[in-house]
Amino acid sequence: MRAKIIGTGSRLPDKVVTNDALSALVDTSDEWIQSRTGICERHLVSSEQENTLSMAVQAGQSALKDAGIAPEQLDLILVATVSSDFLTPSTACMVQKELEACNAAAFDINAACSGFLFALNTVDAYFQAGIYQTALIIGVETLSKLIDWSDRSTCVLFGDGAGAVVAKASEEGMIACLQGSDGSGGDILVCKSRTNNNPYAHTVKDLDYLFMNGQEVFKFAVKKEPECIQSLLQQAGMKPSDVDYYLLHQANYRIIASIARKLKLPLEKFPSNVSHCGNTSAASIPILLDEVNKKEMLKKGDTILLSGFGAGLTWGAALLKW
Ligand code: COA
Repeated sequence: MRAKIIGTGSRLPDKVVTNDALSALVDTSDEWIQSRTGICERHLVSSEQENTLSMAVQAGQSALKDAGIAPEQLDLILVATVSSDFLTPSTACMVQKELEACNAAAFDINAACSGFLFALNTVDAYFQAGIYQTALIIGVETLSKLIDWSDRSTCVLFGDGAGAVVAKASEEGMIACLQGSDGSGGDILVCKSRTNNNPYAHTVKDLDYLFMNGQEVFKFAVKKEPECIQSLLQQAGMKPSDVDYYLLHQANYRIIASIARKLKLPLEKFPSNVSHCGNTSAASIPILLDEVNKKEMLKKGDTILLSGFGAGLTWGAALLKW
């Protein structure tokens, strides 16, 4: 049995922040941001009530409704995030409590922007092993709390949000998936945790916010993601043109366009929402999937390919029948 997606949901914060609004904070411009990234605006949490958990719960509820599944039917909840509200309990356990999904095991996965794919592929492996049958997978981030809002090279890129899918063990659905990591390249995209403050530790106040070497990340993305897509298609015995839609991690429209060129495919096969969401890390692919699903762009039997890359370094892809 493989993972079949039977429902999608998402939640974006109500507060929309335009590029012009950011140019009041840092020395930037709408023209610079749009031409380098394709981003026009992003959604950011703007109240104490809005956080990683609240967005995850709302996206999860909406995916369950779309799938026609009751919370108690879930036997697994995986949440992909690097921006949990708590170090423990996990966001997944807190979602389980809020949804009253009392029969589900729950845990978080940290694979940065590839996190949703790592979670989907993990669910698929559990289904293949016959361990679980019905899973809720959520990608959620409140990256706005990890950003240095005085650093123009990162603060313009990211947004907050959550996306979710319900997956069921089925004869059809997942065709093939893969994931990979290269820890040796991890220092180009880093966010340190808190420093040790015990009475015996040598405490150094270190950089707490996200650091990124943008050009190196760009080079990694435009090389690794097409390679990852090609090897997945090879594994499935398919050609790039056999895929109806490519739903890629929404980091930067130039990266998406470069991948389309490398695969010699028209941009119409690459739906994108980076212009209004920015980069929402682990949430980006399920948010896009929900948008495409709600617009009724996907027909039963369509072949879709999800793929992304991120900090770690990590990359992953999944090829599915809709
Ligand atoms: N507004 C205006 N100028 C800015 C700016 C901003 N928001 N951010 C950086 N700049 C400046 C730089 O200071 C630099 O100025 P200098 O030439 O005077 O030193 C200039 O713009 C060029 O910077 P550079 O970093 O070379 O720009 P770039 O063309 O590489 O674009 C990114 C920067 C971040 C858009 C690009 O590298 C990128 O998209 N990288 C991948 C990021 C990514 O996907 N991260 C998420 C991974 S999951």
